[in-house]
Amino acid sequence: MTFFAKIAATGAYLPEKVLTNFDLEQLVDTNDMWIRERTGIHTRHIAAPSESSSSLGIQAAIRTLDVAGVDGEEIDLVLVGTCTPDGMFPSVASRIQNAVGAVNAGAFDVNAACTGYLSALSTATQFIENGSAKKVLVVGAETLSRIVDWSDRTTCVLFGDGAGATLLEASSKKDFGSIRSYVLRSDGGQADALFAGGPGAPTEHPLTKEAHIMMDGRAVFRAAVEEMSKASLTAIHNAGLSIDDIDLLVPHQANERIIRALARNLNFSMDKVFMNVEKYGNTSSATIPIALHEANTEGLIKPGDYVLMTVIGGGLAWGAMVVQWSDYCAS
Ligand code: ACO
Repeated sequence: MTFFAKIAATGAYLPEKVLTNFDLEQLVDTNDMWIRERTGIHTRHIAAPSESSSSLGIQAAIRTLDVAGVDGEEIDLVLVGTCTPDGMFPSVASRIQNAVGAVNAGAFDVNAACTGYLSALSTATQFIENGSAKKVLVVGAETLSRIVDWSDRTTCVLFGDGAGATLLEASSKKDFGSIRSYVLRSDGGQADALFAGGPGAPTEHPLTKEAHIMMDGRAVFRAAVEEMSKASLTAIHNAGLSIDDIDLLVPHQANERIIRALARNLNFSMDKVFMNVEKYGNTSSATIPIALHEANTEGLIKPGDYVLMTVIGGGLAWGAMVVQWSDYCAS
């Protein structure tokens, strides 16, 4: 029997504390106008000292299962895209698995930096399509505020914390609403363009053991526009569609200028592009599931619509996915 992976519910959770551009003016030599003009970001949310990627992910997961009316014990697998786990191990996925009572589920994290969620969603699709899972909870959860160098104005203005979740379910029908295609790519040759050290760094390596984000912003900007455009066109082609068939583009929310350049490259109207980067900044793996949830709850996606998602981040690693919205997606 062939199975198809449908998005059955979405959810999100943002920590309460909001950090404005004006707050950042007190921390580093920057200003609201520069940040808004160069990035489109106005505010970002910051996790409380007691919070972590797990606790944000747990809230997003609980909300998603609630709207779907699904019990934790029905879940076969919990996958989490994150590059800011609470620790080296256990995985954030195991913590979420426990918190939602997914006693019958396996759990693991996928670290592909910002591309973690899309990589996890692609993996979940495989588990469903080959018949080994019926319900998979896919979460993107990040606390970038923990690995930002708050004295570096070139990076600290860009990032925020948050989590989004998606419930994927097996269906025997392809005809209405399922994941249609995905493409994942990486160029580890560009690792130095965007990286953060960590406790596993070689002791004599120039990479710092301190987990601070280091970025060549211009190089990442160029790669972002080029690779997300190419990956999007490949995913659309692999789905047997053309760009005109796409009803909504939900891109990685890193920088409004990147999103606008991507839409221009694709010859795609900004009217059909979802953007919330102004509120949350770049939440890495969490940008797409949060954006997807907001687009869903704002009624911007109708059953049958084709949604294109695309993302790039540290690796460099990037990807794109086309999903046809299902007829029973709860929000
Ligand atoms: N406030 C004021 N001035 C600043 C700031 C700031 N926060 N940051 C940099 N500047 C200055 C620079 O010092 C430079 O000054 P100079 O001309 O005197 O040297 C000037 O502004 C221009 O700097 P650029 O780096 O050229 O600015 P740019 O227009 O490229 O914007 C930015 C920088 C926003 C980082 C952009 O390059 C970008 O968005 N890059 C992509 C980032 C991204 O998408 N990352 C995604 C992946 S994240 C992940 O995977 C975890």
